[in-house]
Amino acid sequence: MAARAVGLLASLPFCAQRSQVLRPIHRLLSCPRTVAAEIKREEQSSGSVETGPEGRTPKKTFSEVQKERREQAQRTVLIHCPNKISVKKFLKYLSQHGPINNHFFYESFGLYAVVEFCQKESVTSLQNGTRTPSMGTEAAIPFRSRVFNLKTKNPSNPTSEQSRVQCSIHAPPSSKKLLELLCYAESIDDQLNTLLKELQLTEENTKLRYLTCSLIEDIAAAYFLDCTVRPFGSSVNSFGKLGCDLDMFLDLDEIGKFSANKTSGNFLMEFQVKNVPSERIATQKILSVIGECLDHFGPGCVGVQKILNARCPLVRFSHQASGFQCDLTTNNRIALKSSELLYIYGALDSRVRALVFSIRCWARAHSLTSSIPGSWITNFSLTMMVIFFLQRRSPPILPTLDSLKTLADAEDKCVIEGHNCTFVRDLNKIKPSGNTETLELLLKEFFEYFGNFAFNKNSINIRQGREQNKPESSPLHIQNPFETSLNISKNVSQSQLQKFVDLARESAWILNQEDKDRPSSSRSQPWGLAALLLPSVVNSASLAKGVRKKPASERIKSLLESIKSSGPENATSTNGKRTVSTQA
Ligand code: GTP
Ligand code: MG
Repeated sequence: MAARAVGLLASLPFCAQRSQVLRPIHRLLSCPRTVAAEIKREEQSSGSVETGPEGRTPKKTFSEVQKERREQAQRTVLIHCPNKISVKKFLKYLSQHGPINNHFFYESFGLYAVVEFCQKESVTSLQNGTRTPSMGTEAAIPFRSRVFNLKTKNPSNPTSEQSRVQCSIHAPPSSKKLLELLCYAESIDDQLNTLLKELQLTEENTKLRYLTCSLIEDIAAAYFLDCTVRPFGSSVNSFGKLGCDLDMFLDLDEIGKFSANKTSGNFLMEFQVKNVPSERIATQKILSVIGECLDHFGPGCVGVQKILNARCPLVRFSHQASGFQCDLTTNNRIALKSSELLYIYGALDSRVRALVFSIRCWARAHSLTSSIPGSWITNFSLTMMVIFFLQRRSPPILPTLDSLKTLADAEDKCVIEGHNCTFVRDLNKIKPSGNTETLELLLKEFFEYFGNFAFNKNSINIRQGREQNKPESSPLHIQNPFETSLNISKNVSQSQLQKFVDLARESAWILNQEDKDRPSSSRSQPWGLAALLLPSVVNSASLAKGVRKKPASERIKSLLESIKSSGPENATSTNGKRTVSTQA
């Protein structure tokens, strides 16, 4: 298998194209020693976690970041542009509506510009100067939004200034490129940081996510004035990978909240409302009507599906202009709180995100996770497992949820639907860990730990940070941190759990091989994390030579079984080489 992988790597044209996508790769490859420093610097400019000077303490709380980004998004418009355009003239044309704070271009079914004005009034001014197109035989519904089409008046007469514009990249690097980068890293720590840097959401991608929520909010506001559409899940919890879905929460709770104080004297004014038999039915009715609206009038909203009978009802659709697969829910406030908790854990120690990204990527490469719902483990559950593992280190790298609750003050108090969701939100109040273990050690130990975990009797519990007896018989039990009677991994089957255990053991074994824990001299041999991402990591050649350290023929047998049973993405491709998927 290793030989095949070498072939795969050797056949890759290094820096074959000097496209924008390769620019950062080229830079990293040419100065490998500076990777770690680059990552620190670039991580700070990334939109995913707002970190302080040491890369540890966020400057802002989760809600401060959300508020700031929301406000930024409300001043922003999305413009579909001709493929060739003079950026200078384009910006000058838009500036007649007010000063521009920021802009970038990207490609998704054509060329798009994201333009952030300094003031919200500029958006209204632009809308007032925009016409509704007259269609030929079709009828246009005159829908006024912040998504525009820019037409050039003389398309057949391009000016010399019109040229292809520089586009920001919103897709993760290919598996091949990622493997190249990993092979050229200096150490396993460097590999984990490189993976994080390449896959994490960029500043532009984060802006586009908030803008998309803001555009959907405009549509929902036609029915529910003052509603809010908030991103949650991996778009905001700092564990999002380029290409991940966009989870949105339609928040109706804020409506009328501030008008409550305006009552005086003996009178109290209330809106007349319709009542329905249950909160669930209310949720279904609200989502149903918003789903219809998105389908009929939402610019670029396609493939709208109303999944209203799910445990958590949702509307799923593709937002073509941004390229995001969106899930819109309402009445899902606990998930928003979970996102805040994960954001805090991700920001507490720089090793957390690097480890989570690598484990997620490893799991995806081996088809342990999937974008289709099923009996497999989810990214959310994997993140909980990493957090739990880091709570179990000595000294702990992450605090337990109970200890975060102890640090909370009156303002942090939060009870949702009877569940206590209180924890400290100001990161400065949390003491940094004294643990100095390397990422390399943590990666190895993660696989050792879960390769030998007593899943049959123990539950994973980040609230207490210790194993507990399983309260029910599901193969994998991970306690929901807020709704503590629930198991977030109830869907996982015994065979999927066994596959996870087998692969974890195999990966621990690989990392203990002398030739796999350091760069090969030629740099073309997959090693460290790169070796773990290859589908069949049991090196049959080394087995034949008897160089394995912890043999146990039974284990090898089960490892080979697990490889045989891995999913279609691990299948041999038509050219005889194994393919690797890194999609999370
Ligand atoms: P991606 O795979 O990158 O999309 O990760 P994600 O964290 O966004 O996961 P997903 O889109 O499946 O779910 C979005 C959010 O919903 C998660 O971050 C959690 O906050 C919440 N969530 C997902 N699954 C569960 C679950 O089984 N139980 C509970 N309580 N919350 C969940
Ligand atoms: Mg998600």
